[in-house]
Amino acid sequence: MRVLVTGGMGYIGSHTCIALYNAGITPIIYDNLSNASIRVLDQLEKVTGSRFEFILGDIQDQQQFKLALMQSKVSAVFHFAALKAVGESTQQPLYYYQNNVSATIAMLQSMQQCNINHIVFSSSATVYGEPEYLPIDEAHPIRANNPYGWSKVMLEQVLHDLCIANPQFMAIALRYFNPVGAHESGWLGESPNGIPNNLMPFIAQTAVGKRNVVSIYGDDYATKDGTGVRDYIHVQDLAKGHVAAFMHHKHDTGYHRYNLGTGRGYSVLEMINAFSASANITIPYKIAPRRTGDIACNYADATKAQQKLGWYAVKTLSDMTNDTWRWQTNYPNGLES
Ligand code: NAD
Ligand code: UFG
Repeated sequence: MRVLVTGGMGYIGSHTCIALYNAGITPIIYDNLSNASIRVLDQLEKVTGSRFEFILGDIQDQQQFKLALMQSKVSAVFHFAALKAVGESTQQPLYYYQNNVSATIAMLQSMQQCNINHIVFSSSATVYGEPEYLPIDEAHPIRANNPYGWSKVMLEQVLHDLCIANPQFMAIALRYFNPVGAHESGWLGESPNGIPNNLMPFIAQTAVGKRNVVSIYGDDYATKDGTGVRDYIHVQDLAKGHVAAFMHHKHDTGYHRYNLGTGRGYSVLEMINAFSASANITIPYKIAPRRTGDIACNYADATKAQQKLGWYAVKTLSDMTNDTWRWQTNYPNGLES
């Protein structure tokens, strides 16, 4: 079976291509390289021994996307391509709605025209906003407080409505908690442009000497040590969650949504300490004011995925930090360097 993977050169998409390949599914990558290096293809080949087909294309180009669907003879789309910087989305909302929402709607139109009726969509735990209860299950109310989050909420609604209108259509929305880690080979990982917004890449860059100190955004939250708590999930576990969801639903119709998390929360301090142990370095940190828009704590109720898909996260916190450290020391400036 062949599937088109939009954004397949990116952090989560590339790891999912490996998981698909390992499950006997052939990924065809469609990516505009706006946030990825062409060298990811070489790294994928090093890991799998196979050169994946790659189409340099933009999901906003409806004609090119439709041609790619027809020529690549795929039966499903795994849709990772998106812009993902929360802060940037508040400054450039139209850019985000255009690239993430409008382009996805155009993609769905093309899929319908080509009679391709299966999509796996990258959603996010951001759709839950400030939690009303913990752990967060899939029935928790959804909302957003920034344009990036709204783009995920809107697209979940679009997929839900499309599945009602088109009884042949099947959509899976996977709500990721906090993806971290790197491929265990050390050949693939996350290399954000500029100063990282997210905790794990910031810690990794501090450990390798690219940043001076980690700022902890608030130590007065109502959490175990006062610092923010999140459900960090290893990117390889996350990748396998996509395969499990697709294999389970590939003969189904309708709209399906799952949390992909571990069910366990770690604080910022616990993350810094775990990384220090992996790197055998004392990572400098300082307490800084809370970051606007941050919540104190979230972690998943991941039992639906376990019960229905037979999937659960197996990698430990030290797997996450060891693998990130291996990747960071192999490629301190990313694949382009
Ligand atoms: P990423 O930036 O590493 O990967 C996204 C890929 O999409 C990149 O390779 C980029 O070049 C490509 N892309 C972007 N716009 C495109 C377009 N118009 N046409 C074609 N390709 C385009 O991001 P990621 O962390 O791998 O995220 C993948 C998906 O998961 C995104 O939808 C993101 O919103 C979602 N998500 C990510 C996180 C996270 O913390 N990383 C959390 C929740 C959800
Ligand atoms: N943090 C710091 N210092 C930093 C960066 C982060 O203390 O330099 C703290 C944050 O305050 C938070 C925790 O580390 O308590 C995690 O922050 P991240 O920025 O790594 O992750 P978020 O939970 O804020 O957001 C991430 C993604 C969003 C996604 C959300 C839910 O960035 O896109 O998870 O999936 F929507």
